[in-house]
Amino acid sequence: MSDQLIPIYVMGKRYDVPEGLTIMTAMEWIGYKFIRGCGCRGGFCGACGTAYRLAGDYKLRFGLACQALVQPNMHLTQIPFYPNPKTPYNIEDIKDPVETLLTLFPEIKKCVGCGACAKACPEGLRPIDYIAAALRGDWKTAAELSFDCLMCGLCASRCTGELVPHNIALFIRRYYSKYVRPMPANLLARTKEIRDGKFDNGVKKLANMSEEQLKKLYDQRDFEKI
Ligand code: SF4
Ligand code: SF4
Ligand code: FES
Repeated sequence: MSDQLIPIYVMGKRYDVPEGLTIMTAMEWIGYKFIRGCGCRGGFCGACGTAYRLAGDYKLRFGLACQALVQPNMHLTQIPFYPNPKTPYNIEDIKDPVETLLTLFPEIKKCVGCGACAKACPEGLRPIDYIAAALRGDWKTAAELSFDCLMCGLCASRCTGELVPHNIALFIRRYYSKYVRPMPANLLARTKEIRDGKFDNGVKKLANMSEEQLKKLYDQRDFEKI
């Protein structure tokens, strides 16, 4: 950790923190405790959305607290969750996917094409593009364009049309996987093995182990050492 301290402002209050820390570790260094708004700490779960401005720059920026580094005179606040009620649907029942998309998410029609969603996305995605591809019926492109979505909700926090783009992205990938993408051969082979009972004895053995035996086995597992 660097000895050099830099000033940052968390919800308006100044703190001096070591440079080189991520926003998350800097906030913990100050004394904040993450109970919500923190998950994987590796840039995958999308729980740690943060909004910030830099001194002398009007631009509102967004990032993941576990990935973005603190910068001198950064003013920041966490956006740990953004309201995004999910509309339930049964993926087995979809006949016309574009019509279903517009029925489940009628707010799509309120998209004004402002691009604010793209500016907020820490993954560099353009929700407006994956939504447009889905509306054209190009599910492959739509799924690929939304593949890296972390469900962080930052796009929804900025959307002028009050869309929740990541819920739409989830529908897109579910539809694509179920109806468009060919089933991968290795997945078919593995599900057949499961159905044929290849792992039944192993599962039974695990189910009969004590907690201590399970812990020992877990500690002895093969895993990538960093
Ligand atoms: S598309 Fe939205 S929810 Fe997904 S990563 Fe980008 S900002 Fe986050
Ligand atoms: S922020 Fe909302 S309204 Fe603007 S382009 Fe993105 S989805 Fe459309
Ligand atoms: S804690 Fe999971 S992305 Fe930051």
